[in-house]
Amino acid sequence: MAHLLSHILLHFVVVSLHVNVIAQENGPNIILPGSTLYAGKHPRSWPSPSGFFEFGFYRQGSGYAAGIWLVGRPENTTVWTANRNDPPVSASSTLEFTAQGTLLLRTESGAQKIIANTSSSGSVDSACMLDMGNFVLYQNRSVVWESFDFPTDTILGGQNLRGDHNRMISSVSRSNHAGGQFLLSMQTDGNLVAYVNNSAELDTSDAYWSTRTNGYRFSVLNLNTRGVLTMSSESDLYGERLVADGSTTGNQTMIIYRASLDPDGIFRLYSHQLEKNTISNIWQNVDDACDVNGHCGLNSYCSSKGDDFRCYCYPGFTSESTKIPSCSQNFTVDGCESRKDLLIQYNITTLENMEWAGDPYSVKHNLDKEECKKACEEECSCGGVLYSIPNCNMFRLPLKYGKRHENINTTAFIKVIVGSSSEIRPTLINESNRSLILTVGLSLGSVASLSFVMALCSFLLYRHRVKSYEKLSENTSQVLTEQFTLRSFTFNELDEATHGFDDELGRGSFGAVYKGILPGDGKSIVVKRLPKVNEGETERIRTEMIVIGRTNHRNLVRLLGFCVEGSRKLLVYEYLSNGSLADFLFNMNGRPAWKERARIALDVAKGILYLHEECEACIIHCNLKPHNILLDDSLTAKISDFGLAKLLRPNHTRSTTGTKGTEWYSAPERQSSASVSEKVDVYSFGVILLEIICCRSNIEVQVCSADEILLSTWVYNCFVGGELNKLVEGEEEVDMRMVERFVKVGLWCIQDDPTSRPPMKNVTMMLEGTVNVPIPPSPSLPMLLLN
Ligand SMILES: *[C@@H]1O[C@H](CO)[C@@H](O)[C@H](O)[C@H]1NC(C)=O
Ligand SMILES: *[C@@H]1O[C@H](CO)[C@@H](O)[C@H](O)[C@H]1NC(C)=O
Ligand SMILES: *[C@@H]1O[C@H](CO)[C@@H](O)[C@H](O)[C@H]1NC(C)=O
Ligand SMILES: *[C@@H]1O[C@H](CO)[C@@H](O)[C@H](O)[C@H]1NC(C)=O
Ligand SMILES: *[C@@H]1O[C@H](CO)[C@@H](O)[C@H](O)[C@H]1NC(C)=O
Ligand SMILES: *[C@@H]1O[C@H](CO)[C@@H](O)[C@H](O)[C@H]1NC(C)=O
Ligand SMILES: *[C@@H]1O[C@H](CO)[C@@H](O)[C@H](O)[C@H]1NC(C)=O
Ligand SMILES: *[C@@H]1O[C@H](CO)[C@@H](O)[C@H](O)[C@H]1NC(C)=O
Ligand SMILES: *[C@@H]1O[C@H](CO)[C@@H](O)[C@H](O)[C@H]1NC(C)=O
Ligand SMILES: *[C@@H]1O[C@H](CO)[C@@H](O)[C@H](O)[C@H]1NC(C)=O
Ligand SMILES: *[C@@H]1O[C@H](CO)[C@@H](O)[C@H](O)[C@H]1NC(C)=O
Ligand SMILES: *[C@@H]1O[C@H](CO)[C@@H](O)[C@H](O)[C@H]1NC(C)=O
Repeated sequence: MAHLLSHILLHFVVVSLHVNVIAQENGPNIILPGSTLYAGKHPRSWPSPSGFFEFGFYRQGSGYAAGIWLVGRPENTTVWTANRNDPPVSASSTLEFTAQGTLLLRTESGAQKIIANTSSSGSVDSACMLDMGNFVLYQNRSVVWESFDFPTDTILGGQNLRGDHNRMISSVSRSNHAGGQFLLSMQTDGNLVAYVNNSAELDTSDAYWSTRTNGYRFSVLNLNTRGVLTMSSESDLYGERLVADGSTTGNQTMIIYRASLDPDGIFRLYSHQLEKNTISNIWQNVDDACDVNGHCGLNSYCSSKGDDFRCYCYPGFTSESTKIPSCSQNFTVDGCESRKDLLIQYNITTLENMEWAGDPYSVKHNLDKEECKKACEEECSCGGVLYSIPNCNMFRLPLKYGKRHENINTTAFIKVIVGSSSEIRPTLINESNRSLILTVGLSLGSVASLSFVMALCSFLLYRHRVKSYEKLSENTSQVLTEQFTLRSFTFNELDEATHGFDDELGRGSFGAVYKGILPGDGKSIVVKRLPKVNEGETERIRTEMIVIGRTNHRNLVRLLGFCVEGSRKLLVYEYLSNGSLADFLFNMNGRPAWKERARIALDVAKGILYLHEECEACIIHCNLKPHNILLDDSLTAKISDFGLAKLLRPNHTRSTTGTKGTEWYSAPERQSSASVSEKVDVYSFGVILLEIICCRSNIEVQVCSADEILLSTWVYNCFVGGELNKLVEGEEEVDMRMVERFVKVGLWCIQDDPTSRPPMKNVTMMLEGTVNVPIPPSPSLPMLLLN
């Protein structure tokens, strides 16, 4: 038995390695012309050499469909279906690999359907079900057709979405593999986007998730056999982007990875552990069922609880249908603009934590809640408003893709027609029975209800709420942008919030920092008072602040607002409870765990990457150091003070910032050169990375030997001498391979020559291990010691 198993596995390995190359002539699994499969009797399928995959007839509904499945207990997983939108066929159907080399499906009625169109490429002489799950047709030993080129709702390890077949369409349900409601497209604009299919043409307003990589040249989505899902470009020139990393350290030969757009619209990455016969969901693109558009109809909204969601009509609306319900008001007043004579009575109901999709027909700025409510009441076109301080976004009916969630901070006002003077009605709305119309229990099935192992793979994946796709189009919806709108404070408000600036947290190169509490919502804030600037610069400063305010990333401290009054300039940030990275690393209570440090290093890299390449206007930080990298209560690292260098010293002249003791984070070229590039941040990151690895500061005098004084020299010597363990001496649970990778990246970042330092995109990918790190040359001594 053991012998047999290892034989099978060996075969599996060999075949996987030679996948698309050549069929072994007369091998056991070569299918020759003239072979036939039968829906109702044996042989029903052709297995792959390992037996993990089969091609042939499987049961669908009351009949059969032809396709490929991954064999499992108790259920097989269908990964591909031929002509998926055709109705199931009867038990007397056959699948013939004809003497002419065509794959022909013959049904009871005598109808014939070609499964693989090889008409453009001469005679096919053999076929094979490969161990990767790819069914392949050969002509003279080269591949002329493969099922991997025609993905349905799944890609397997080794498969791509690209070119003419750059999309996946979900199945109707777990048992019906016809094309369903959702679509995932690897677009030519560089975005991977999930849509609900509502029409013949894809519309950005139907999108509910995107990688937000607009402008990158990504055009290929690839899942590799190790479970790493990446986007890349055809040319390989532009690098790649990790979407999800499902790789595990276990024995890879026993794991098959699969990424599927599931019937519920969620894109999930699964691993099938063959020896244990288990399936795990290791990543998914959205966390919440309501993040998927299209579960609820027009004028209704989605609200979720775990994997279940419910659809509710907006107050004052009702629904007759029960399947994907749309809701309507009990009566409509058509063409209200043209019927000014009609005096309509409205009531406005308020729903907190609401949002919906689409573009408002009008946006009014600087209104308070009551004014916004009133504005909608007075305009007959207005069906509902989304209010988020201080903007009032007015929408016409019907309202689409509504969603209610406690994380959403916008307030909705819905206009309810109570009556009109020409048709006086009594109150129509029964408050206690206003909304619940139906429950849609979302059954994810046995597979997905296994616990989600999400943490592994949230790398580089932005958490997308409903608005994420809006980057796709130029006419960005106001709703998104104004969630990030800065609040403008008066000096008095901030004076009050900080109790007259009495709780000073610290004093950095950019001014003193105070803690405060916003009177309105009790939120803790940090107020930074910038040094006085010329009054003439007020407008420029305001513009710079708005640029800073537009940046919004998990690894950046969020700017909430600002105050510019005369020469006074103040910035208001969110308050983070866990202090700075400097406190975290260089404390007396021993080293933080390696895992934590590694995660923080990656966080910082991602924050810088965002500043350099991903936000609308690129920002060079110029003053990165562990003291302005802050940690929130879950120890997520967030960079602060970004944008201030430009704000205060627009010409990027020679650095004068270095407050005492922090010069060594700044790149050598800053001592001499007038211009500054992103590479100065890469340098600073390199120093910080080495500090994170070793938990000590760049220069340390209380060390055993002289070559340990300067961290970069010491690290380099240890690296060359193969003694990296010295850097993390005494620590437990350290992944030495990771340490080595990080050290190599750090050494690349602190190269004297700015052009030798890799860009942050490469740094991030190297840290994550998606690309190899070449051996770094010696970084020469920093100038500061030579001076
Ligand atoms: C799964 O596939 C195997 C191999 O084709 C087949 O014998 C078995 O009946 C299938 N199981 C189910 C539940 O369809
Ligand atoms: C097969 O493909 C060719 C072009 O490659 C096309 O002209 C032909 O219509 C296709 N046949 C079928 C049955 O789809
Ligand atoms: C098959 O391919 C080989 C080399 O690729 C070539 O020499 C041979 O002529 C081909 N045979 C046919 C029948 O096309
Ligand atoms: C949406 O689905 C319909 C019917 O299934 C189909 O005809 C249409 O082409 C699809 N739209 C897109 C953009 O794929
Ligand atoms: C960055 O990575 C890309 C591909 O991953 C590579 O082509 C490029 O040379 C790298 N750039 C540097 C400066 O290392
Ligand atoms: C993986 O499993 C196969 C079969 O059990 C075995 O031959 C191989 O050595 C294993 N590889 C590793 C890295 O453990
Ligand atoms: C939303 O409001 C809650 C409570 O008022 C607050 O804790 C949270 O930070 C706010 N979120 C955003 C993104 O403003
Ligand atoms: C409309 O609002 C007013 C006061 O806000 C309330 O007294 C009245 O009952 C409401 N009518 C309906 C139909 O809800
Ligand atoms: C809707 O209007 C009809 C009359 O047009 C009335 O009988 C019915 O009770 C109304 N329903 C609700 C929920 O107000
Ligand atoms: C509102 O509905 C509840 C039941 O949902 C009912 O008990 C109550 O009498 C209704 N009120 C009115 C004014 O119709
Ligand atoms: C409450 O709503 C349900 C569903 O629309 C309806 O069947 C029921 O009659 C309503 N109850 C009242 C009291 O209006
Ligand atoms: C920045 O440069 C511009 C011209 O390039 C100059 O007018 C301005 O005074 C400079 N500002 C500072 C602060 O040096």
